[in-house]
Amino acid sequence: MRFSDGMELPVFSDRDYRAVFEASPDATLVVDAEGVIRDLNPSALSMFGWSREEMEGSHVEMLVPASSRGRHEQHRMRYVEAPSPRPMGQGLELRAVRKDGRTFPVEISLSPGKLASGPEHVICTIRDLTGWERMRRLSRMKVMAAENERKHLSRELHDEFLQFLVALKIRGKLLVDELDRKERERAWAVIADQILGAMQGVKQMIRGLRSPKLERQGLVSALATLFRDTRKVHGVKIRASVNLDWVADELDPATILALYRIVQEAVTNAATHAGVSEAAVKLRSEDGVIIAEVRDEGCGFESTDSVAAPDEDNIGLTGMRERAELVGGSFTVRTAPGKGTTVRAVVPMVGPGGEP
Ligand SMILES: Nc1ncnc2c1ncn2[C@@H]1O[C@H](COP(=O)(O)OP(=O)(O)OP(=O)(O)O)[C@@H](O)[C@H]1O
Ligand SMILES: [Mg+2]
Repeated sequence: MRFSDGMELPVFSDRDYRAVFEASPDATLVVDAEGVIRDLNPSALSMFGWSREEMEGSHVEMLVPASSRGRHEQHRMRYVEAPSPRPMGQGLELRAVRKDGRTFPVEISLSPGKLASGPEHVICTIRDLTGWERMRRLSRMKVMAAENERKHLSRELHDEFLQFLVALKIRGKLLVDELDRKERERAWAVIADQILGAMQGVKQMIRGLRSPKLERQGLVSALATLFRDTRKVHGVKIRASVNLDWVADELDPATILALYRIVQEAVTNAATHAGVSEAAVKLRSEDGVIIAEVRDEGCGFESTDSVAAPDEDNIGLTGMRERAELVGGSFTVRTAPGKGTTVRAVVPMVGPGGEP
């Protein structure tokens, strides 16, 4: 229906406009030329956590993180001299601060207005970009995770197979030159053995990349196989307590894969770096999250922030953190030289359709 089709245009009263202002999902502030907040809507109250009494009559700088207040004040005064409708701080990543001190990313639009109630005012519309920033961080991490996977694979191929092929070439040449039949047979037996070893290596690598066990058997059973293999391959016993009940079958495949890979890497690290004969793994569900913990009482290490400085030497640790964050979870490592290591991932329980 179009209002112009013979219908009378509705006449809005001040109260109607007030209702529009109150209902806006964006936080809206009316600020005077001195930077004092004169009015605000309920979205602004819930965004910042202050009460109406606390905000009205206060300087707008109360909503700006302390480190940017001085600069904000200068910009505000310049704006009042030549006001025009425009976004604030174009090209900059703006942040605002809540009553509890937490800061968050925002987009702010400014618009000068001469209100009936007084002289010049600026209407500020503030949009919370927390969700948007999280999406952007996730997509950046996705790119990094893929890049790390590629680095990991190329290192694996280099260390495992290039070395092997180089050795094979040398042995093959020696075999051709060998005149003694018995020696030739002996040399061939060594080569055949090495080829068999390499084939097993390739299989292991494919398993590591795809994990058909996980796809076929589900998380709990694949973990049991992982713990058995750890004992066979590294001689390290895993004391496991996996209390996921029915939850594991109801999870989103991305969450299952993340949990499996994190435990796999943490267990491999404990088995290869900690110098222990056993390690403990605990998985449990609690209040909408799954907590996975891998603990060893081994040598520990000097922990650095592997995310602040993602490092080729920390692909395992960085990868674990990324995997947890990619599915909306968090990852921590508690360790120190001589103090053992505890790796912990907390990921939200998400169903196969992405619903909680
Ligand atoms: N449980 C642990 N006990 C002792 N040291 C550990 C443990 N976990 C990790 N480390 C130390 O942290 C370093 C980084 O671990 P990370 O898993 O990132 O790499 P990596 O295991 O050396 O190689 P990869 O990329 O194959 O995983 C290890 O080289 C080791 O020195
Ligand atoms: Mg590792």
